[in-house]
Amino acid sequence: MSLVDKTKNTFALTTPLYYVNDLPHIGSAYTTMAADTIARFKRLLGHQVLLITGTDEHGQKIQQTAESKGIQPQEFSNEISAGFASLWELLNIQYDRFIRTTDTRHEAIVKEFFNRVWEKGDIYLGQQKGWYCVSCEEFKEERELLEGKRCPIHTNKEVEWRDEENYFFRLSKYQSHLEELYRSRPDFIQPDSRRNEVLNFVKGGLQDFSISRVNVEWGFPVPSDPKHTLYVWFDALLGYVTALLEPDRAANLENALSKWYPIDLHLIGKDILRFHAIYWPAMLMSANLPLPERVFGHGFLTKDGQKMGKSLGNTIDPVALVEKYGADAVRYYFIKEIGFGKDGDFNEVRFIEVLNADLAKNLGNLLNRTLKMVKKYCEGNLPSITSENISEDNPLKAIGLQLGEQVKANYEALNFDRACEAILRLSQACNKYIDEQAPWSLYKQGQQQELEQVLYIVLESVRLAAYLLSPVIPSISSDIYQQLGFEIDFNHQIETANVAPFAVHGKWGLLSSEQKLGKAKPIFQSIELN
Ligand code: MSP
Repeated sequence: MSLVDKTKNTFALTTPLYYVNDLPHIGSAYTTMAADTIARFKRLLGHQVLLITGTDEHGQKIQQTAESKGIQPQEFSNEISAGFASLWELLNIQYDRFIRTTDTRHEAIVKEFFNRVWEKGDIYLGQQKGWYCVSCEEFKEERELLEGKRCPIHTNKEVEWRDEENYFFRLSKYQSHLEELYRSRPDFIQPDSRRNEVLNFVKGGLQDFSISRVNVEWGFPVPSDPKHTLYVWFDALLGYVTALLEPDRAANLENALSKWYPIDLHLIGKDILRFHAIYWPAMLMSANLPLPERVFGHGFLTKDGQKMGKSLGNTIDPVALVEKYGADAVRYYFIKEIGFGKDGDFNEVRFIEVLNADLAKNLGNLLNRTLKMVKKYCEGNLPSITSENISEDNPLKAIGLQLGEQVKANYEALNFDRACEAILRLSQACNKYIDEQAPWSLYKQGQQQELEQVLYIVLESVRLAAYLLSPVIPSISSDIYQQLGFEIDFNHQIETANVAPFAVHGKWGLLSSEQKLGKAKPIFQSIELN
């Protein structure tokens, strides 16, 4: 099979495939917003991007939840899966593929992959004894359990004892291969804290893991023994591969792997790191397939400093949050406020403060007052100034000239908070510059040329800030761009010819007097603290 004809210009990334036992929570929205941010940035850079998301629909947890509601698991999955898709619309997520693991095309891929691993001799029948957490869909080691045999992640749930015949995957065989992988590719698992976690776990010795169940019907049958159902994680990870299939191509591995493979980035939460950084590469090694480039495990969100959970009654409903504050506000808070990779907190007062300070005041007021001054002092026309005529010592130009590259490096390293902070520093500097230069005084003193230069410099800086923030707040950035006279909508970059490439728009000095400025309107209304 001819694999990996990967042109440099493609970038495929994934969110986890979310369980459909419940409607999406803020944790799932968080990973997806981050994935969308990086996908949008890569598109600005001119990459061909494939953003994969979807739902993980098999397994005991979903079977049990559907049963408890008296609905067939497929019908239940359809309903919840649609809930994910509609949240992604609300949040302005530009995904390219939405894979559902109950898709029949997926079954064909899983079968073919299973057979490759089977032929390699890496699957055998054995006896599985151990403690199982249905919510994690994972066996736990006795030493990991909390008092009362509770799961360390689902702390209110007791694990269940299992003693049954299962098929096993020979993970232990791949111990040294995995160690070599982590050694030779230190960036494979990020951030470093997660990498160390994996290294320690692997050092402790890897055990084979079971990949089938006998008492769970809701899943694909094991191809070599249909009395068994495939373990949900074996099937789910392969969803990433099925998602790569072009819609009109036959469902086989060769087609799935022909364009986008290997996947460049798997974004996940830290609780599912083992599956992605240990099991998944070992499964791919067994099937003789290349490995993904990078696995990034982000942190967990808390609410008002507390762990979130249904039983604690403190979950955040992402739909309600977006309906109340808008997609950009929600995207901005989680992307800018939380260091990606670290745990982070949601607190509504802090949320409002951040939005008011950054979006309403720092950026919004700046644009509004500058446009008003252009109207008052320059008859509403952009001053005819070009950036070459402005000294490189000008404080805003000096920041602007190096900002694009700085922000690019931060987005690529998934340091979203730092990217946003760097951009915000430019708009803060703009506010300070206006206060210092006092265009109103320049006007009174008849210093029209100096005045026009100040206004140009500020508007160009706001433009650059809006452009660089567009992966995070695409609608606000589009509004700013439109007020500056561009016909660019960052939510329709893929479909329209009006793309704004980084090579042109990511540089300071683009605005020209040919632009006809649009009407000044507030881009973000300050939120009242109740
Ligand atoms: N179905 C598996 C993934 C299979 S991928 C082939 C799964 N699904 S999940 O719906 O339970 O979790 C999806 C993601 O949500 C995980 O990345 C998890 O880390 C994340 N989060 C769950 N709770 C979270 C927080 N409180 N905070 C941040 N992310 C959290 O696991």
